[in-house]
Amino acid sequence: MDLKSQIKPEKLPSHIAIIMDGNGRWAKQHGKPRVFGHRNGVKAVRESTEAAAELGVKYLTLYAFSTENWKRPRLEIDALMKLLVETLSKEVNTLMKNDIKLRAIGDIKKLPPLTHKALLEGIERTKNNKRMTLILALNYSAKWDILQASQKLAQAFKDGLIDAEAFDEKTFSNALSTAGIPDPELLIRTSGEARLSNFLLWQLAYAELYFTPTFWPDFRKEQLYKAILDFQQRERRFGKISEQLVP
Ligand code: FPP
Repeated sequence: MDLKSQIKPEKLPSHIAIIMDGNGRWAKQHGKPRVFGHRNGVKAVRESTEAAAELGVKYLTLYAFSTENWKRPRLEIDALMKLLVETLSKEVNTLMKNDIKLRAIGDIKKLPPLTHKALLEGIERTKNNKRMTLILALNYSAKWDILQASQKLAQAFKDGLIDAEAFDEKTFSNALSTAGIPDPELLIRTSGEARLSNFLLWQLAYAELYFTPTFWPDFRKEQLYKAILDFQQRERRFGKISEQLVP
């Protein structure tokens, strides 16, 4: 039986998050500059988005640029930002055709104006799509997110809009950039690295973590199916013991 048909629809994660890693090493393996790896990474973005939507996954979050990535060489940053503009302008039609809504998390106002503009246009054009939401984490880091949520809540508290007793987990979740999006059940990281790199630290509290040695430009539908099948074999206990779980 092929991998796709082994996936149980009733146990499908509704939200998958991916740390796309290994573009640079993939390029090096091919004797090419790092940007070649990013360009080939776009194919993996397209494949995983298509595969997730076909399966019925409701949210797919991709870590495309972290707040720390500004430390990279200027040329690489410029090339990545240009690639984002190109990809967004080209792929919005595909998103429309596939009924996929685009959303972004991160401090996107600080992106170069053309990237920011292309992103806002994509978000606006796809805002009524319903099948799946594709969330791009851009100029994102979990510590930034937790800090901006805390600042927002501190201000609301100061303005008398919230009181201390009513402050709970939901209040905090709703102040994060992921407000309204269920937490990811599955986190995938490619390229053999096993760390979270400041990605969705609050939201991944109970996620299953899946690490694959595949470099991101080589990531295809089959790899996504493998990760989901691995996820479906795990027992998610949320602090309980096996015997307490409803089958
Ligand atoms: C990580 O590999 C990759 C990135 C930081 C950028 C990801 C961007 C894309 C795939 C391009 C387009 C994206 C979208 C959403 C349209 P790395 O450079 O850290 O690789 P290395 O660890 O091998 O150096």
